[in-house]
Amino acid sequence: MSHLLIRPGDALRGEARLPGDKSISHRALILGAIAAGTTPVHDFLPAGDCLATLRAVRALGIEVERPTPSDVIVHGRGLHGLEEPGNVLDCARSGTTLRLLAGLLAGQPFASVLSGDEQLRRRPMGRIAEPLRLMGATVLGRDGGRRPPLAIQGGGLRGIDYELPVASAQVKSALLLAGLFAEGDTTLHVPGPARDHTERLLRAMGCDVWYQVAGSRYAVPGTRYPIPDASSPISNTQYLKLHPPRQLHPLDLTIPGDFSSAAFLIVAALLVPDSQVTLRGVGVNPTRTGLLDVLAAMGAGVELREPRDEDGEPVADLTVRSAELTAVEVGGEVVVRAIDELPLLAVAASQARGQTVLRDAGELRVKETDRIAVTVAELRRLGAEIEGRPDGFAVQGPTPLQGAAVDSHGDHRLAMALCVAGLLARGETRREDTRVEGADCIADSFPGFAQTLAGLGADVQ
Ligand code: S3P
Repeated sequence: MSHLLIRPGDALRGEARLPGDKSISHRALILGAIAAGTTPVHDFLPAGDCLATLRAVRALGIEVERPTPSDVIVHGRGLHGLEEPGNVLDCARSGTTLRLLAGLLAGQPFASVLSGDEQLRRRPMGRIAEPLRLMGATVLGRDGGRRPPLAIQGGGLRGIDYELPVASAQVKSALLLAGLFAEGDTTLHVPGPARDHTERLLRAMGCDVWYQVAGSRYAVPGTRYPIPDASSPISNTQYLKLHPPRQLHPLDLTIPGDFSSAAFLIVAALLVPDSQVTLRGVGVNPTRTGLLDVLAAMGAGVELREPRDEDGEPVADLTVRSAELTAVEVGGEVVVRAIDELPLLAVAASQARGQTVLRDAGELRVKETDRIAVTVAELRRLGAEIEGRPDGFAVQGPTPLQGAAVDSHGDHRLAMALCVAGLLARGETRREDTRVEGADCIADSFPGFAQTLAGLGADVQ
């Protein structure tokens, strides 16, 4: 297992480009596979999670060319062209792969089995198994279908009107994918603004999918896309509807830089004094950028330049300068829009004046790890004043951090958050640098993370 050594150094300066968005890369492969023709995908993310989806799509009989690591060409075979896989589909550590494929496979007239690493086999699947059964699929699995492996016999689906118990984009996307193959419309009531990349891509491919909000119909993508307010009774006034298409048109897609990867560089530049960093071509879909709203409330100004639309997704260049932060209370809808950035928020909060409190984030306990428990345990080793709460954490700042050996627990987002903390953690000698053990998992979402950070001037090796 590899490790990274990090120590405080000079200001971070310069420009960087981020690897392609992970969520969109998964969806480009899956939707490309069932499009009526060939989908070239540029700036595909060649990371562990997306490569698991790539292997699975190939195992379903789809030819995928890879002329370069970050270019793929998906030879879609239409809505009814997938083949029964000859073996278990191994989703590695990727929840998105397993849950989205479960939805796709529920629509196929054959049997398939989805499994993955030990970490993934612990994660909850009842949230997809139950609605997929309501649609007519047979879904079996450990613990009554609540844990992988999952065995799915699909076909013969009917559309449902369903209220999701969690604001999860993976569940929403699984049901939209199943809905493509169902008889009748699928209507989903989602209790929060979960990322909407599936809807945007489906629309771009010609599928009739829309948000209905208090009597008006909102297309996605579109500037009028409303981010639901946590206080509004979303379940009755807002829902998402999909009408099954006859076919999906193939696209020529360029994937924007992943905001969730950019987030680590944004917070690093904010916290390391005198820094100024520009990140080019970053996806700024509002269902993903909750962290920017939280940081703005903490006193950080991240400048968005040259906002543009690329294949239905908003993209911009971001310029970040270091700033003094003050504590905030974080809860409600912004939590859904910042869900993958919350361990990193704890690092920012450790340097902010006052007590930052995170609420409504119980979902963090069922991510790659229990992200509340591991964030608290590892940041404490660096001297942060942080305590866990059932649905979040409280952090007192600012606290000088001290270099120490810390552990990723096999969780890519925690590993990178700890590296950012390491940039601030002083030790007396080289032996007291921050040492992040198990850093290889960073390649699950951000291959080249250490090199990108070092390219901006960080002391990381
Ligand atoms: C993702 C959805 C989110 C997110 C994950 C990627 C996706 O998970 O945490 O990293 O691509 O749909 P949930 O849907 O479980 O919230």
